[in-house]
Amino acid sequence: MIEQPRHIKSIPAYKPGKSSVDGWDGPVHKLSSNENPYSPLPSVIEAMSHAVATMHRYPNMAAPELTSLLAQRYAVDEHEIAFGGGSVEVAAQLIRAFAGAGDEVMYAWRSFEAYPILVRGAGAEPVQVPLTPKLRHDLPAMLAAITPRTRVIFICTPNNPTGPAVGHDELRDFLTNVPERILVVIDEAYGHFQTDPSAARGIDLFREFVNVAVLHTFSKAYGLAGLRLGYAIAREHIQEGLRKVAMPFAVTDIAQAAGVASLAAEDELMERINVLVAERSRVEIDLAIQGWNVTPSQANFTWLELGDATDAVSAHLNSRGIIARPFSGEGIRVTIGDAAANDAVIAALADAPRPSA
Ligand SMILES: Cc1ncc(COP(=O)(O)O)c(C=O)c1O
Repeated sequence: MIEQPRHIKSIPAYKPGKSSVDGWDGPVHKLSSNENPYSPLPSVIEAMSHAVATMHRYPNMAAPELTSLLAQRYAVDEHEIAFGGGSVEVAAQLIRAFAGAGDEVMYAWRSFEAYPILVRGAGAEPVQVPLTPKLRHDLPAMLAAITPRTRVIFICTPNNPTGPAVGHDELRDFLTNVPERILVVIDEAYGHFQTDPSAARGIDLFREFVNVAVLHTFSKAYGLAGLRLGYAIAREHIQEGLRKVAMPFAVTDIAQAAGVASLAAEDELMERINVLVAERSRVEIDLAIQGWNVTPSQANFTWLELGDATDAVSAHLNSRGIIARPFSGEGIRVTIGDAAANDAVIAALADAPRPSA
């Protein structure tokens, strides 16, 4: 048997959201992966099908059309944008480029489950700073946890899986106090679902601080999770490092075409996002009326803090054909789906087991 090196052995396996429920033959609502319930728009499917005809060629690694559109949209230089096969791949590139053995990569916890995997995979040390009791980033504690070995800090806003966004002013103060030698990655995978005007705006902070990289994805708001397309906006010296470790040809021409078509269809996509945001409010209000401890979310999911009732509530949801994402002993993240899925969640939780007071 071939031995894994020590830093790989310690990596926890990434658990994708479940997609089936044993013993249930009604409709299954898969609300475990923060996917968009809407399928791609016809115009996006058409653009992808045109791109299929040239699949005997490698993709254009420069992604020129998509780069140019995004550069215009965010008023940034084209060299300040780099793509990857999903923003998780871009996050991995940033870590690989700027942290290695003996370096620390810090992030709040609980947060996106891929972070510890990516950090360990790069041979670096994860430093997890607990969220506040309101399940928000504890930025003063994160500042206090910086050491000479800190190389990268991730700020997930809105935070997966708990939902709150970091405030713009508090993040700005934080960045003012972080040494410029540390890369701060603002992961805005759920940024399109943000409605709080005081929430952090990564692009403005990118303009102000040279050590900021902003991560965006086409997976969530644009509904292209299966296609794998994400990107980072960062200064050229950061992009230079990122490009060195990037997987060549990771972003297909099909993904690039879908990205371009999605940006052209932004109004239609915004309508869908607005529906999901309205559904999020409906779910949060109904669950609060039922007496659940709901953390107000700025993303396309809801977090229920359940402590030791987590597994029982998850099993109860499964028994009604609903697959959410339980974090045993902590709580459950339920993705906001279409109205039928959300109705099913509200109905199922009405008679679910409750956490002990
Ligand atoms: C916070 C956060 N960042 C990044 C990602 C990765 O998204 P993708 O690789 O699909 O772009 C996710 C996906 O769940 C996420 O929750």
